[in-house]
Amino acid sequence: MILTPLLAVVVASLAGLSKAQDIDFEDGVHNATTIVGTWSSQSRSVLTGPDFVNPSKLEFNYPRNTGVSYSFSQDGFYEIARYRFNGNGSEPTCITGVIGWVHGTYTLHSNGSIVMVPFGDGFQQIQDPCAPVSNFIETYNFTELYREWRIFNDATDGYKLHLFQFDGAPVAPQYLMNVNPIMHPTRALRNDTWIRVDSKEKRSLPEDDVLQKRSSAVSVSSMNGFVGASGLALMALASLLL
Ligand SMILES: *[C@@H]1O[C@H](CO)[C@@H](O)[C@H](O)[C@H]1NC(C)=O
Ligand SMILES: *[C@@H]1O[C@H](CO)[C@@H](O)[C@H](O)[C@H]1NC(C)=O
Ligand SMILES: *[C@@H]1O[C@H](CO)[C@@H](O)[C@H](O)[C@H]1NC(C)=O
Repeated sequence: MILTPLLAVVVASLAGLSKAQDIDFEDGVHNATTIVGTWSSQSRSVLTGPDFVNPSKLEFNYPRNTGVSYSFSQDGFYEIARYRFNGNGSEPTCITGVIGWVHGTYTLHSNGSIVMVPFGDGFQQIQDPCAPVSNFIETYNFTELYREWRIFNDATDGYKLHLFQFDGAPVAPQYLMNVNPIMHPTRALRNDTWIRVDSKEKRSLPEDDVLQKRSSAVSVSSMNGFVGASGLALMALASLLL
């Protein structure tokens, strides 16, 4: 279970924080160690960087287990790798696989939040055996707000990063994998802006993919609809299950 007594304490202490109050980065809560480095959730199977994804080819290397990984550089860049399955209570055989990658610049705000602004080359692949299009890749370009973060020094597991999403939902706790962040070059790595690639195959994209390049106006609205409906909300739920 992720909801350990420790996390309950974290949640309880967050409730006591005043929003207006500036946080102190030297308070022993945020500086158990610096946030700079590469972090990965329980399975430690998902890591940011070139082993996870080839952005110019839109290709993921599927990790052995699900998980999330965040990297932060000293000079203000972030990268996120996510791989998860979303179950469906009413259709138990309809398990959706989501794998995604995004990078950009981050800011630690004095109110305790982190804002991550993407470069525009992030993308995700959705595999849904029960949907008309069972496998597709599309641009993922959302600015992400994390309301709070904490780093603990766990007696057995070492440094542990807790991130809380815009709505307070916790991201699965992540362990420090490398103090030197494992990241792609910190700039946009492909020229296509908005993409959507549909495929009937699973896990690989055959030659005859339908490649649609849309105007950004059309895609922004459809992407917002998509993520609003299922992406972010499910992400929050699913992250608890990692
Ligand atoms: C679960 O499956 C039902 C029936 O196919 C579908 O209508 C619903 O949207 C699915 N829920 C999720 C969260 O995917
Ligand atoms: C903290 O400050 C940032 C930057 O000003 C802002 O975007 C964010 O909404 C604030 N977060 C909270 C929880 O007030
Ligand atoms: C991605 O999002 C950022 C932040 O909102 C924006 O500045 C950028 O133009 C977007 N990129 C694309 C390709 O739409």
